Amino acid sequence: MAGDFQVVEFITKVRDGVSPSPLEVKRFAQAILAGEVTDAQVAAWTMAVYFRSMAEEALFALTCAMAESGHQLDLSAIEGTKLDKHSTGGVGDKTTLVVAPLVASFGVPVIKLSGRALGHSGGTVDKLESIPGFRTDLSKEEIIAQGKELGLVLAGHHKRLAPLDAKIYHLRDSCGTVESIPLIASSIMSKKLASGADAFVFDVKVGHGAFMKSLDQAKELASLLVSIAEQAGKKAKVVYSSMAEPLGSAVGNSLEVREALACLEGKGPGDLEELVLALAEAMLSLAGIEATREDLAAKLASGEAKEKFLALVRRQGGDLGALPTAPFREPYPAERDGYVQGWQTREVGLIVRSLTVGNPAGGVEILAKRGSKVQKGEPVALIHAQSKEEIDWAKEVLAGCVALGDLEPQKIPLLLN
Ligand code: URA
Repeated sequence: MAGDFQVVEFITKVRDGVSPSPLEVKRFAQAILAGEVTDAQVAAWTMAVYFRSMAEEALFALTCAMAESGHQLDLSAIEGTKLDKHSTGGVGDKTTLVVAPLVASFGVPVIKLSGRALGHSGGTVDKLESIPGFRTDLSKEEIIAQGKELGLVLAGHHKRLAPLDAKIYHLRDSCGTVESIPLIASSIMSKKLASGADAFVFDVKVGHGAFMKSLDQAKELASLLVSIAEQAGKKAKVVYSSMAEPLGSAVGNSLEVREALACLEGKGPGDLEELVLALAEAMLSLAGIEATREDLAAKLASGEAKEKFLALVRRQGGDLGALPTAPFREPYPAERDGYVQGWQTREVGLIVRSLTVGNPAGGVEILAKRGSKVQKGEPVALIHAQSKEEIDWAKEVLAGCVALGDLEPQKIPLLLN
């Protein structure tokens, strides 16, 4: 027991809907780190938070305790407002690969540490690592030097970044409390605060392929993310975007890198570019730069943002010329004439997760999105796989992921702000 701190009383207080004080939260976190709280007690507390939440000051105290539990990056040696963005997770979301160099091409440093795939949702680190040689395990010193010299870093979360969050997340995963919105906000922000940026844009995704299924849930999460950021003295903005269907066409690591490269030349799919421009506009405004979406699109078309991305890849050891392609590719045909009513986005994410195990070139390209008119036999998707068996499996499971109908469906807007 840490001094006179009573773990059971702390848990019952939260269970009964009485928010603990920031000091009590800090002492609870210290007790966990000192090994004085059992896993069962931590899990019970997460369940209490799931049902009762905690006041925003208590959540902030938890976030700080998790952020301070491991390595913290001090980016003060890099001049300017250091920007970061965070996506709450989706399918085909390769925006970081485009937005980060686009914003950095305006001379504003973007220093972003990212995670791996989680459940059905892809991870930026996995996408970057599909580029042969690309290093995501940069040291603190490398991050600072690259931030100063290039103004752009895309690296992975260090193992020692917010280890208390990793421990609590693991227990949440084992007891059914991953979905707690306050705990999600605190978990995300602990890693963001430890990563050291000054300002954040949150891309909060909503819909079938997102963790937040409704706009109300997304707003609850966003308001906590912004509250924690502001309590930490950081600036923050939110972009709400639909994850009703995969973003762009490509879903899968090296496929997404290729699509990001096209977008960096202004030749990407319309929905991807629309979200990229909205995120870049929000990020730049946090650094005091008012760029219109036309200015941003011109920056893509001029090739400047692409140059920045190529410089990043070179600096982190990647060889885009060796980007892998899958040995087997086969179209998935429409089973009837009609309009595509939509895709089961979460399931597409899970299929791609399987296709990418040990194969960074695996994945699915969605060729006909919601609202497209297709004829029987016309390809609606293209499967990229390691073997013919995988292709056959993917065809079978994709059958349940796309709905075709006679009526043209209503358009779902991408930007929901
Ligand atoms: N991402 C995180 O970092 N933490 C969560 O709890 C959920 C998503």
